Amino acid sequence: MEKGEALDSHTLLWKQCDVLHSSSTNAADQDCQMSRFATAEAVKNALYPMRGEVFLIQGLHDLCAFVSQSLGKPLSELKLCEIGSYSGESTIIFAERFGSVLAIDPWMDDYDPSDATCQHASFTEVEAAFDERVSRYPNIRKLKTTSDAAFLTLQSNTFDVVYIDGLHTYEQVRRDIMNYRQIITGVIAGHDFNPVDWPGVHRAVTELFGDSIQTFMDTSWATIL
Ligand SMILES: C[S@@+](CC[C@H](N)C(=O)[O-])C[C@H]1O[C@@H](n2cnc3c(N)ncnc32)[C@H](O)[C@@H]1O
Repeated sequence: MEKGEALDSHTLLWKQCDVLHSSSTNAADQDCQMSRFATAEAVKNALYPMRGEVFLIQGLHDLCAFVSQSLGKPLSELKLCEIGSYSGESTIIFAERFGSVLAIDPWMDDYDPSDATCQHASFTEVEAAFDERVSRYPNIRKLKTTSDAAFLTLQSNTFDVVYIDGLHTYEQVRRDIMNYRQIITGVIAGHDFNPVDWPGVHRAVTELFGDSIQTFMDTSWATIL
């Protein structure tokens, strides 16, 4: 790059976010990674299994196909932002298809006492499992903060897709939609469109999009903006 040449906003964001992937082939590093893997395996037993059933994974595959068809582009050319990543199960499903994935999560204990996720592993362990899981994906970056705080730093960026699966209260889901729709050029989507288990999510999405949304077997929802 020539001195004084400006970086585009996405390149700048990518440089500023945490780098997670490792391509080391050094034997000592590999030993270290083996022991980290063993640690991550032990932690995993206490994690909430977000995508433990086949249909929960298939729903995301179908959502990805919907995005590609709707936008008429290969997913490898598209940028996705995920709000709420937990241990990275959905993050790597997206990273295997999309050109880049920005994962936003505060990894903070007790963020919502009524959410069963908070009753499982501590978020220090959850974040370590996320880091371990995504370390093989050079197209993932993470922002360790809330969606509200992240939005303030992302306003000069755009994403083709934003997937909302963070704090599931009505107020927060509504705010995430209203904020992030301003920086989406394609599809807005999210998880847990289920009036019984997640009435706040269902109410916010229904109020803002009515029946114009597409739903998927894992209770994901999506609509083109
Ligand atoms: C249901 S889990 C995400 C599951 C993940 N998308 C998957 O399918 O594997 C919800 C996540 O949202 C995160 N979260 C909680 N409050 C948040 C906020 N204000 N902004 C962003 N993420 C938040 C939690 O830390 C948690 O990891």
